[in-house]
Parts: sequence; structure tokens; C-alpha cells
Amino acid sequence: MPGVVDRLRVAHEVEVWPEDRAMPRVELLASITTVEGLYCFLTDRIDSELLDGASSLRAISQMAVGVDNIDLAAATARKVPVGHTPDVLTDTTADLAVALLLSVLRRLPEATAYVREGRWGEWRIDLLLGTDLHHSVVGIVGLGRIGKAVARRLAGFDCRILYSGRQRQQEEPGGASLVSLEELLSTSDHVIITAPLSDQTHHLIDRAALRLMKPTATLVNVARGGLVDHLALAEALRSEVIAAAALDVTEPEPISAGHPLLELPNCLIVPHIGSATRRTRQAMADLATDNLLAGVAGRRMPACINPEVYA
Ligand code: GLV
Repeated sequence: MPGVVDRLRVAHEVEVWPEDRAMPRVELLASITTVEGLYCFLTDRIDSELLDGASSLRAISQMAVGVDNIDLAAATARKVPVGHTPDVLTDTTADLAVALLLSVLRRLPEATAYVREGRWGEWRIDLLLGTDLHHSVVGIVGLGRIGKAVARRLAGFDCRILYSGRQRQQEEPGGASLVSLEELLSTSDHVIITAPLSDQTHHLIDRAALRLMKPTATLVNVARGGLVDHLALAEALRSEVIAAAALDVTEPEPISAGHPLLELPNCLIVPHIGSATRRTRQAMADLATDNLLAGVAGRRMPACINPEVYA
């Protein structure tokens, strides 16, 4: 992104991976040995093996809000602060969650194909009938920053909003009510996942969870693919246990060619573009640069996910 490397070069020697693909692990391990600061992405696995080989490392800065690719305990044990990019991408990601839900409910991908394929004939009373978002019950799994922004948007659609999570949130936009995950799944017309991925949330939405959902329900995931058991989801979509899904994230990414989800007309998949607007990606790049510069200089990062390193 414009400006990042120039800002880092003012005070530091900077090595940039020049290729337009994620840095292969062997290259990352080889080049990490002497660096003091690492600017990384969600495609890089930052674990104990890597940290053990990075004895000069003073700061890790990830250009993403989710940090499930980073072993935070291992970084904290080594007193390495980890920066991430919260807030700047919240609204953009929430916009996409609502866009995905509306696209599926109003069958926009099918409708576009219908026109492009020259199938648009006379107006018909029963053409491409969809499902309403307004006045529906929407369950948000994980009412964090992005979940709250989704709730604010859905309040504008007169939705009743339920949420599940570890604790009651002080701010409950749109009158969102905390319920158990089971109640959320069985009561909601649509379910949106915005919770972070962790050992506790891995495959939170599995076969049993999907069976609790309404047969008319749509599942949207803008968090991390690992929250959903994709084989169970494919089975649930195929056998109409739920009506539809819209995924910005999959496990793995990219989704493997020939994955059963790719064959299902009731599954919309986009390639992890939740924060992908020009303005937001620049803001993320800038915040990640601020974090790295502060961390390497031994100053507190503006957005640090493991602030206990400063204790
Ligand atoms: C994107 O998925 C992010 O975590 O920023």
C-alpha cells in the first residue's frame, strides 16, 4: 500500500518480499533471524518455531484485526508486542456482512446470471422470489466491534437482534439481546458469524448446531472459516437443513477446487474481501505501520493485542 515502506525506510533498513503471493514459510524462517520488526499478514503463520529463530525481534505488526495465525502466548512469553488493525475496518466489514445477507435473501447472483444468460422474458409474478431481511430475527454470533456494527445496520432494517457470546455487552445496538447459542440458532431467521477464531470457537457451527437452525435460515460468515465445519455445512445445504449460506471466509483459503460447497447453488462464496475497500485497506496499512514503528522503537503500539507485554 502507498506510503508504508517509505515511512519505515525513514529510520530503518527494510526488506520487502517482492512477489505478489504470500511469503513461503521457508523464506520467512530464513529471513526472520536478524529482523527487529515484522510486518505480516493473516497468511503468515507466526508460531514458536518462527519466534525461536527470531532472537532480535522486538515487534510484530499484522495488517488485519484477526490474529488467529499468531501464537499470542508464545509472543507474549518472549515479551514481543503484537499489533493489529481494529476499528479501521469495522464498518467496511459490517457493510459486507449485510451485503452478503441481502444478496442471498434477494437472490442477486441468480438474478444477474438470469439476465446475462438472456433468460429474461416477460415479467412474472413468481420470478426469483426471495426472502425479506426487514422485520426478521437476526442472530449475531459474537457481538464484538464488527458484530455491533452489523447490529446497528440491521436496526435500520427493523430487525430483532439476538447475540451470543461469553458475556453481556455494555453496548447492545438495536436492542440486541444476549441468548445462548442454542436459542440464537433455533430462533433466528438469519445468523451472522462475527466471532474471532480460537480453540474454543473452532467448528462452533458444526452438524449439531446447523440442525438447530430453521430450514429457511441463511448463515453468513465474515469472521474466519474455521468457525464453521464446512463438510457439515455442505451437507446441511444439500439436504435443506438450512436454506442458504454466504461466506467471505473458508477453511482453508482459498477453498480447495472441487470442494462440495462450490457445487451448491444455495452457497455464495467471496474471497475474503470483508475489509477490501481502498480507503479501509489504506487505513489498515497505516495503522500497521504505526504499530510497527512504535513497537520497534520500544514505544507502546497504538493497537496492541497483547498489552500485558508492557506490564
Ligand atoms: C481480516 O480478515 C482481518 O482480520 O482483518
